[in-house]
Amino acid sequence: MWISRIAMWMVLCTVTVAAAPCQIILVSDPSGAAAGTQSTKAEDLPVILSDVIATGGRILSTSRVDLPLSTDEPILSMSTSDSKATFVLANDPRDWSNPLVHVDPDRLYFKKSPPAYDGIGKIYMGREISQVMGHLGAGWLERPEREQEERTDLLMKMMELDRDDVVADIGSGTGYFTLRIAPKVPDGKVVAVDIQPEMNAILEQNAEQQGISNVETVLGAIDDAKIPENSIDVVLFVDAYHEFSNPWEMKQSLYKALRPGGRVVLVEYRAEDPTVLIKPHHKMSEIQARHEFEAAGFRWVTTYDDLPQQHVLIFTKPGSQAEVAE
Ligand SMILES: C[S@@+](CC[C@H](N)C(=O)[O-])C[C@H]1O[C@@H](n2cnc3c(N)ncnc32)[C@H](O)[C@@H]1O
Repeated sequence: MWISRIAMWMVLCTVTVAAAPCQIILVSDPSGAAAGTQSTKAEDLPVILSDVIATGGRILSTSRVDLPLSTDEPILSMSTSDSKATFVLANDPRDWSNPLVHVDPDRLYFKKSPPAYDGIGKIYMGREISQVMGHLGAGWLERPEREQEERTDLLMKMMELDRDDVVADIGSGTGYFTLRIAPKVPDGKVVAVDIQPEMNAILEQNAEQQGISNVETVLGAIDDAKIPENSIDVVLFVDAYHEFSNPWEMKQSLYKALRPGGRVVLVEYRAEDPTVLIKPHHKMSEIQARHEFEAAGFRWVTTYDDLPQQHVLIFTKPGSQAEVAE
């Protein structure tokens, strides 16, 4: 399909001067956000892309080609069909190798008033974000019956860790998982990130009591996990992601932190199952979770439904943006 679009573009440009660098971006556009835009200004593409993502679309592929053009001005061309849109962006000086970095997070969030009793009144991709579980609930995370209730032992096996993996436990709380993972990666380590310093203090105390040293705590920000680029093999979120007040920014920061081919393990209580007795905004459906992570550039691999109450979704960071569509 691209080839025919590129050929069409070349035929239209009968007066040629030189080969111009062009970025071709194919997106799914189920709500027609791109189709409703008439812009031919290159500078408008970030806004159009942001609105496509906010309304359920995602990047399917990107590629860069040189085309003969009669202008050296930045210019945007767009064609739409079958709930998809193709953008051809020419002569734009910005780096478009990962279009997601140009998305404006402020266009992804909407306010809801009043908030749900367990929500914060902020809507992201159709989901109301939940309240954060405060550190006063730390005892609940460490309850002795948790292993049996949630089969946390099975979850550890599903993670398929290698002994030299560097694992980031995001929203690590008291370190329930961090401290179970650390002995399984003796040649690696666990980077435990939380926004509550009280949680990190409990985790550090627990690690010391158990004699575990291959753990690093990080005080994250609500929109930044504060982990260096390309330093992580596996990112784990257990019962935490639904609380992130800035999920888009967090996923972008973790996308950068993961090595290409690295994995995301997302564990959330099943929203589809009314017998899971957890507050509604502290649960997520599989379709919602896939939608949110695929829109942010991750590729879904599989979902395990063997735990009593939670889904376990596995995603990867593709080796290149062009792989996202596969
Ligand atoms: C329900 S607890 C789960 C803790 C742990 N994962 C477990 O399962 O035992 C959720 C944790 O996520 C943390 N959290 C919320 N937003 C966060 C963010 N943007 N970055 C990092 N941690 C966050 C909260 O402070 C809280 O400690």
